Amino acid sequence: MIKSTEFQKRRKQLLQQIGNTSLVILSSAPMRPRTGDAFYDYRQNSDFYYLTGFHEPEAIAILAPKRKEGEFILFNRPRNRDEEIWDGARAGQEGACQDYDADQSFPIAEFEKMLPDLLEGREHIHCTLGVNKEFDETLFKAINKIRGKIRSGLQPPIAFIDITPSIHELRLFKSPGEMALMRKAIDISVAAHGRAMQTCKPGLYEYQLEAEMMHEFFREGARQTAYTSIVGSGANTCVLHYIANKKRIEDNDLVLIDAGAEYENYASDITRTFPASGKFSAEQRAIYEIVLAAQLAAIKVAKPGAPWPAMQNAIIKELTEGLLELGLLKGKRDDLIEKQAYLPFYMHKSGHWLGLDVHDVGRYRTNGKWRTLQPNMVLTVEPGIYISKDIPGVPSRWHNIGIRIEDDVLITEKGCDVLSKNLVKEIDDIEALMR
Ligand code: GLY
Ligand code: MN
Ligand code: MN
Repeated sequence: MIKSTEFQKRRKQLLQQIGNTSLVILSSAPMRPRTGDAFYDYRQNSDFYYLTGFHEPEAIAILAPKRKEGEFILFNRPRNRDEEIWDGARAGQEGACQDYDADQSFPIAEFEKMLPDLLEGREHIHCTLGVNKEFDETLFKAINKIRGKIRSGLQPPIAFIDITPSIHELRLFKSPGEMALMRKAIDISVAAHGRAMQTCKPGLYEYQLEAEMMHEFFREGARQTAYTSIVGSGANTCVLHYIANKKRIEDNDLVLIDAGAEYENYASDITRTFPASGKFSAEQRAIYEIVLAAQLAAIKVAKPGAPWPAMQNAIIKELTEGLLELGLLKGKRDDLIEKQAYLPFYMHKSGHWLGLDVHDVGRYRTNGKWRTLQPNMVLTVEPGIYISKDIPGVPSRWHNIGIRIEDDVLITEKGCDVLSKNLVKEIDDIEALMR
């Protein structure tokens, strides 16, 4: 659990950035209907959660620096016994103040009426525009109301500023409280991947391995995945975001599982690839060793000061050399790298930030330059080689070998900590675990 003092600290940091004549308005995630009157599982908007810790839908948070009645206002659902009997307890106005440290809380139905007063005299409005049509309309209606009274001395805002970059810059650097939750999410995923490897045998269906993963997630209190699990075997290992997970797993198949638990809103994102039979073939082994070498080379350069492309450059060098050695690429190494000859085999990037979102927020470039890694950033390192039968000129013995190896990495003062290091990834260790 993140302590309420940490949410307070985040709000304070944000307020320091925006100045006293500004106002922040943030909206919770909407509920999304799935069928008829049944809804998708509710997941709070990550930015809203990051600043408030509030889990309910139909809420709006306002930060109003130097406002005398209090700087943090939460508009949320009032208590309602009839509805709570069906859907469970709500914080209500009292809970918003007591449990979430709002200085004031009002029923969400009051928001539209109160908004003009809150906006009046504030020069810069920090919010998201173009995300929620209904919210945008409410905001502009309130502003037009103030504009209509300009001759009475009311002052409408003069600028709208996208709030997300400021929040995302804070979110990029993980606190000890966040790291505890991320480590938990990752540990659950590590156990789940190990369980799937141990259960795997030819004749099972991909979804049965997915079920083994979910079993481990749920029993450890991770009720959501951080993204839809990818469980691909055979040719499906070459489909990067394969999520059908419904093929029978055959004897000579490789199995690629890219799956991660979400724990208390924090994501993990791990991929392992292993042979269905428990024993790598010569070709599978050869490609696996190249991908593993590339992944280890990328992890080696992941340290403070390294520019973001350092991992990708290390991966490309290893993959190109490896494919050249096997005769799957032909030419001179440097020319092949220059021409991006690896692209038919490796068509994605080295990884991404990881946090509340699986593809977490935070800029990769700032001021026109690649960002350098700094302590407390968390990222994935996930090279792969995917030899679909559509790549021209590749002998058929290499076909349907798709391998990705993905770990979650925390940048530390001295280098990095591979948070998912307890999950086997050397060939001998995978084969031993599967035995
Ligand atoms: N699972 C999506 C990714 O690895 O980025
Ligand atoms: Mn992944
Ligand atoms: Mn990833």
